[in-house]
Amino acid sequence: MGPREKVTLATLRAKKRAGQKIVVLTAYDYPTAVAEQEAGVDAILVGDSVAQVLLGHDSTLPATMDLMVALAAAVRRGAPHVYLIGDMPFLSYQVTPAEAVRNAGRFMTHAGCDAVKVECDARLVDTVAAMARASIPVMVHMGLRPQSIHQLGGYRSQGRNADDAQRLLQDARQMEQAGAVALLLEAMPPEPARMITESTELPVIGCGAGPYCDGHVVVLHDMVGLSLGPVPRFVPRYAELLSELKSAVERYAADIRSGAYPAAEHCYQMAAGQAERLESGK
Ligand code: KIV
Repeated sequence: MGPREKVTLATLRAKKRAGQKIVVLTAYDYPTAVAEQEAGVDAILVGDSVAQVLLGHDSTLPATMDLMVALAAAVRRGAPHVYLIGDMPFLSYQVTPAEAVRNAGRFMTHAGCDAVKVECDARLVDTVAAMARASIPVMVHMGLRPQSIHQLGGYRSQGRNADDAQRLLQDARQMEQAGAVALLLEAMPPEPARMITESTELPVIGCGAGPYCDGHVVVLHDMVGLSLGPVPRFVPRYAELLSELKSAVERYAADIRSGAYPAAEHCYQMAAGQAERLESGK
């Protein structure tokens, strides 16, 4: 059974205080959202990873605002009770704070999101503050930031030396002061993730950041064997859906070729006596 009451920021903060882990997963569509809510996840991230996972791009950069808002609205229809986070795509918030506010607002007004997520370090602290001033709850994604791979030098884990880890801790403090409501830490060792998590009242969600975060998120398609790209080592695997899908398609093709499909149970029936009338031509 899914959560009966709407999960809010207050719910996530209370979970942190009570030491109860927060369960977060990605979703990009209505049926997946229905399943995730029924399975009891607390929050869903409509991630720009959709560009890679569903659209076949080699990075998240081609995701657009129109796409993300349409997908977030579909996920909200399927999961009205979860805490819903819309992922702001590349260049939807980096250009000016005003543009960031306007684009973030679309996730709130058109898709019913509870928060938006931006990937940034301290250089965008004014943008986070501008969104917070506009009453838009912002989750700040720190550490490995896939929209910055060309600047970071690829998909590399972050915070592995003490100086980098300190910088991440300072960034986290600045983001909290700027009004962020949650943090997401991607691909960093457990030690800096623990320091950040313990230093803030904000819910901290880890994505390959070790066990001490307040909750965890992975890309659903990686977790259930539905993605084709390389899967990060921190993702647990609970199903092999792509091979199940392929074998279902192989059986369908074989049944058509052998004539086993369609069988009688797949056919519509004519009204009583009408087949004979049709045959006789009367
Ligand atoms: O886009 C996404 O799915 C994400 C997760 C990997 C955290 O940002």
